[in-house]
Amino acid sequence: MKTLIIYTTKYGCVEKAVNILKSKIEGDVSVANITREKAPGPEPFDNIILGGSIYVGKIQKALTKYIDANLRTLLSKKVGLFICAAQPEPVCTKELEDNFPVELYEHAVVKEVFGHEYRLEKVSFIHKMILRKVAGVTESASALSEEKIGNFAETMNYSG
Ligand SMILES: Cc1cc2nc3c(=O)[nH]c(=O)nc-3n(C[C@H](O)[C@H](O)[C@H](O)COP(=O)(O)O)c2cc1C
Repeated sequence: MKTLIIYTTKYGCVEKAVNILKSKIEGDVSVANITREKAPGPEPFDNIILGGSIYVGKIQKALTKYIDANLRTLLSKKVGLFICAAQPEPVCTKELEDNFPVELYEHAVVKEVFGHEYRLEKVSFIHKMILRKVAGVTESASALSEEKIGNFAETMNYSG
């Protein structure tokens, strides 16, 4: 089985989640951070995992563009979708649903919110201001769920 993980990240939380996920996916796994590298096409892969992080309700444009350009092929593969996001339920699940095309969301065998991180030492001045004023965040925090990532990997590994 060949799996491709395509992701976007701003401050590295998604990358951290992808590293954990990669270690739990069976078979041959390729990873591409399309925030900074050219995106490989999905054709040669059996399974495709797509994920990014949410800023003011939206996932990164690079991921949306990739999905739009490859939607037909993606719909012929086993697909998993995830986001990193800090909003509590039910908002984060709505963000997950709203940031992927309906056909792809319905086609995916697994979709999950993995949690979030705030790394204030990395965050831009303006983002720090937004975090403080809008969300009251004044300290770095890590709330990634290894359990959710593990369950996601298991579904990718074992669903038909
Ligand atoms: C300026 C800013 C805006 C954000 N907006 C949202 C949001 O609208 N919804 C949400 O669920 N999380 C929001 N987040 C939280 C991020 O999605 C979260 O920190 C995520 O882990 C970042 O992942 P990354 O480091 O891979 O980009 C925001 C974070 C920042 C810094």
